[in-house]
Amino acid sequence: MSKVNRIAVLTSGGDAPGMNAAIRAVVRAARSHQIEVLGVMDGYEGLLEGRFKPINTETVADIIQRGGTILKSSRSEVFPTDEGILRAVTMLNTFKVDGLVVIGGDGSLTGAKNLYKNGVRTMGLPGTIDTDLAYTDVTIGFDTSVNTVLDAISKVRDTSSSHGRVTVIEVMGRNCGDIALHAGVAGGAGYVLLPEVDVDVDLICQKLVAERNQGKLNTIIMIAEGANIKTNDLVEILETKTGIETRAVVLGYVQRGGSPTAGDRILASRLGNRAVELLVEGKSGRALGMQCNAVVDIDLEEALAMKNEVDEDLLNLARKLTRL
Ligand code: F6P
Repeated sequence: MSKVNRIAVLTSGGDAPGMNAAIRAVVRAARSHQIEVLGVMDGYEGLLEGRFKPINTETVADIIQRGGTILKSSRSEVFPTDEGILRAVTMLNTFKVDGLVVIGGDGSLTGAKNLYKNGVRTMGLPGTIDTDLAYTDVTIGFDTSVNTVLDAISKVRDTSSSHGRVTVIEVMGRNCGDIALHAGVAGGAGYVLLPEVDVDVDLICQKLVAERNQGKLNTIIMIAEGANIKTNDLVEILETKTGIETRAVVLGYVQRGGSPTAGDRILASRLGNRAVELLVEGKSGRALGMQCNAVVDIDLEEALAMKNEVDEDLLNLARKLTRL
């Protein structure tokens, strides 16, 4: 097993709260093994251009509580091509990098897998608010994001109640409804609309009218951005068919920012540390994550091939407690 002297770390794709905590953990764990760390600026875009900078415990001081990523991020179009991969390998060899830690979502981990197939020792850490990676129970950033949504729900509820309105709150998650499902259950939403479940708008209209007749004047509807009806269309249909004043709030990027929760910081610290340990042990091409509260590492290819499915237990709970 060849000794690991220098590793690199990058963040890629949509940023997520806790990425900084993961970078910090990688750097501090590496120090305990006398390994030098290079930060790759601007994700895979920066990797292609050799934007490496040495990072150490001083660089990562005071960042555990900060959202975003000190290494910046990007969505590279060139990197996923054959030419891009070859150029990235050349850069990593030029800078004598013995292992690369990639923190990001499915596209970023696919990049890590492709580099691994081209001889680079890689580790993939799930850094995305979406929680759309099937191999892990949680991803870095999800918990913070859900808590941000909860804060917004409470505020919206105040005004929604003052005006007796229906308010539709749209959350992120791409094709995955987990943010909407978790925030909907935790925030006591009346309805939760997910990409994974067909939306019956007529039924919602009937229920809203019936509830109004029973005196319920305000309702929160959580909708995932990937649901099979667009938020604006939903608002228009609800108003037209029920006559109830309805407003929409699209939370957008606020869900990606802010100080990470304790859960995200601990998760990021555990995974960052384990990624370094695995490289020291001579492992490579692994996706790190959590299963049943334990850190696991799985072959990247296998991990990415797993199909993401909605949590049936939580879905059933939502069906019972809301009007999904
Ligand atoms: O993957 C994270 C995410 O925030 C998704 O929830 C959302 O669909 C997407 O990124 C937005 O991407 P961009 O930052 O490129 O607008």
